[in-house]
Amino acid sequence: MKTITARLKQRSYTICVGKGILAKTGSAIKQSGLKGKAFVITNRKVGKLYLKPMLSSLKKAGYQTTSYVTLPDNESAKSQVQLGKVYAAMLTAGCDRSSFVVAIGGGIVGDLSGYAAATFMRGIPWVNVATTLLAQVDSAIGGKTGINLKEGKNLVGAFHQPGLVISDIDTLKSLPRVELKTALAEVIKYGVIWDHSFFEYLEKNMTKALKSDLNVLTKIVLRCTEIKARVVEKDERELSGLRAILNYGHTFAHGIEVASGSWRKSISHGIAVAIGMVAAGELGQRLGIFSQKDQLRQIELIKRAGLPTRIPEKLSVDKVLKGMQHDKKKKGNQLTFVVPQRIGKVVLRSDCSPAKTYSVLKSIQ
Ligand SMILES: NC(=O)c1ccc[n+]([C@@H]2O[C@H](COP(=O)([O-])OP(=O)(O)OC[C@H]3O[C@@H](n4cnc5c(N)ncnc54)[C@H](O)[C@@H]3O)[C@@H](O)[C@H]2O)c1
Ligand SMILES: [Zn+2]
Repeated sequence: MKTITARLKQRSYTICVGKGILAKTGSAIKQSGLKGKAFVITNRKVGKLYLKPMLSSLKKAGYQTTSYVTLPDNESAKSQVQLGKVYAAMLTAGCDRSSFVVAIGGGIVGDLSGYAAATFMRGIPWVNVATTLLAQVDSAIGGKTGINLKEGKNLVGAFHQPGLVISDIDTLKSLPRVELKTALAEVIKYGVIWDHSFFEYLEKNMTKALKSDLNVLTKIVLRCTEIKARVVEKDERELSGLRAILNYGHTFAHGIEVASGSWRKSISHGIAVAIGMVAAGELGQRLGIFSQKDQLRQIELIKRAGLPTRIPEKLSVDKVLKGMQHDKKKKGNQLTFVVPQRIGKVVLRSDCSPAKTYSVLKSIQ
């Protein structure tokens, strides 16, 4: 097992990455200093796979536990209705300010559970046991928690860092292939925004990653965790602009998701990010800061991950452009794009006219 520390002063925490470490969660929690009752949140699918070993490890470490496994297995879990049910179950279980939450699952369970922990009795600690590749490389790190409103995704939330993160690579064995593949878009993102040699590693090992080679996946989760932790340490609340680089490809992706029929979507987030990164690369070329050679490398790697690189014909480019205007990350009237300069380095640009953006979109359809 390897550990990475997210250094955030009094909110610092350990992220454990390794194979077969889920069964050690209890002792890791004990080591992290958490006391009190554990309220374990998951859904039935993940619960069937991993709840038993989790509970026995918590009990072995001396924790009293209550489990809540009835979260729906879709975005509706991140709703006010489901949140209310979780609060009620926490009260019934006798949770108080000295209790803590343990989330086991992907980003959906993590976001909802983290927000429940952030708000229950004005905030209690939580532990995130991440069981999807997306959660392990992205959502489990950084303390963004929240729920959706009918008006849109993640519109209510809180920054609430977990007290501990457990990323057991073995859990990825049971993950549906499509979940693995779409998370690879975010993995490639880290290579483009931060680390040229990691990008090269992906070029050499993408086939193995797609076959769920656990050694390759371990390396991937470790490097992405490190990068995300370093970014979040420098800009925890997304104020300086650094954390914004994690949104590489996401402004375009947001437009694609909206155009594909709202966020209750027919095009998954990972697919939209893959296409969004190609669009950002195209924009970089038009701004004269990104070479064609690097853009072709980016496109090639995205293709090798089995992800699309062009906007589907059935989507209207006008609608994509319109959808982008509703980006939550927008400041004032101007969209800010994360644009690549080379593989491993991006910059923020707010000087792209809608006409330029439109022609970028047209060129990749
Ligand atoms: N907080 C953040 O910083 C952040 C960042 C990115 C995304 N997110 C959020 O994350 C969510 C998406 O997360 P996700 O991609 O992990 O999806 P998810 O949580 O829906 O998980 C995908 C599917 O895999 C199942 N599953 C989970 N672990 C499994 C395992 N080990 N084996 C078999 N099946 C398993 C889940 O039940 C689900 O059906 C979105 O709501 C998004 O907004 C949050
Ligand atoms: Zn994303």
